[in-house]
Amino acid sequence: MSVTAVVNQKGGVGKTTVALGLASALGAARRSVLVVDLDPQANATTGLGIFEAERTIDTVLTEDRAGSAADAVVPAGWAPDDGSVVPSVIPSSPALAQVEHQLVSDVIGAQDRLATALEGLSGEFDEVIIDCPPSLGLLTVNALFAADRVVVVTEPAAWSSDGVAQIVRNVDRIAQRRGGRPELAGIIVNRLARTRDGSYWAGELAEAHPEFVLEPPVRMRAAVAEAAAAAVPIHALSRSGADDAVAEFDSLTRQLFSSVPAATTPESTTPESTVPESTTPESTTAPEPVPGNDTDRFPDLGSLRVGVL
Ligand SMILES: Nc1ncnc2c1ncn2[C@@H]1O[C@H](COP(=O)(O)OP(=O)(O)OP(=O)(O)O)[C@@H](O)[C@H]1O
Ligand SMILES: [Mg+2]
Repeated sequence: MSVTAVVNQKGGVGKTTVALGLASALGAARRSVLVVDLDPQANATTGLGIFEAERTIDTVLTEDRAGSAADAVVPAGWAPDDGSVVPSVIPSSPALAQVEHQLVSDVIGAQDRLATALEGLSGEFDEVIIDCPPSLGLLTVNALFAADRVVVVTEPAAWSSDGVAQIVRNVDRIAQRRGGRPELAGIIVNRLARTRDGSYWAGELAEAHPEFVLEPPVRMRAAVAEAAAAAVPIHALSRSGADDAVAEFDSLTRQLFSSVPAATTPESTTPESTVPESTTPESTTAPEPVPGNDTDRFPDLGSLRVGVL
């Protein structure tokens, strides 16, 4: 088992979406995965189809007992019909926000509560993914103390690179205390739209962290948002754009998780990668996209469709 924390202190960059996409890809590769929802917003919990949980991560962390997380594990509400393995989940709840405040006053230090709670679960799952809240506070620090590896999710936007550098510094500081763990496994660029702005900031990220930015990026697509909102795995979604998103998550999963074998066939070629550069807005005078640009939602946008997915 390896424990992977999905982090970024910035909100809304796609940590949860990517955590769910990776869980979907691991399930499709017949790997067992435990998703630990460490965010009081509980978006991973609902995205995995859990709407009422008996035991949640806040209780687990309060108990401060080795292995206490085992009692909170439930199967996701996903029901794939293709033989995929259904992920397991440790659900979250808004009560976690209160618990974080209480833990801050623990005089012994509460940074390893999650690591303690996860003790003994190691043999049971191929992979554990921790979905972190948008802060570098005590909950994320707990994830970093429990994790073997960190995946940073970022948008290609102004100052993203500075935010990533800040996380990397914190990861390094904790790794110094923990004998080299967690290690930075990779940086996933999410919500990449086919715009000059997106390409520019994606380029900045790749330049600033050349050995860590993973290919491919996860592109902005209505299918990706819809899968989480509908509480279904992206691999089970049949709508335009879903296949391309699946190819991206499958590729990232093969690179990130050693329990998933590398592809024996060449990487699938997604339609956008075959589009000649000259037809993209970067090299034309196409307008900047509308917010949330995804023509799956705006089928009448005509020529703009060339530039978005
Ligand atoms: N690749 C994508 N294409 C389209 N929409 C996306 C994509 N990735 C994320 N989104 C949407 O962006 C919003 C924010 O995503 P998400 O909740 O995953 O971010 P987050 O980093 O987990 O947020 P928070 O910091 O609040 O936990 C959601 O509405 C999600 O559906
Ligand atoms: Mg989230």
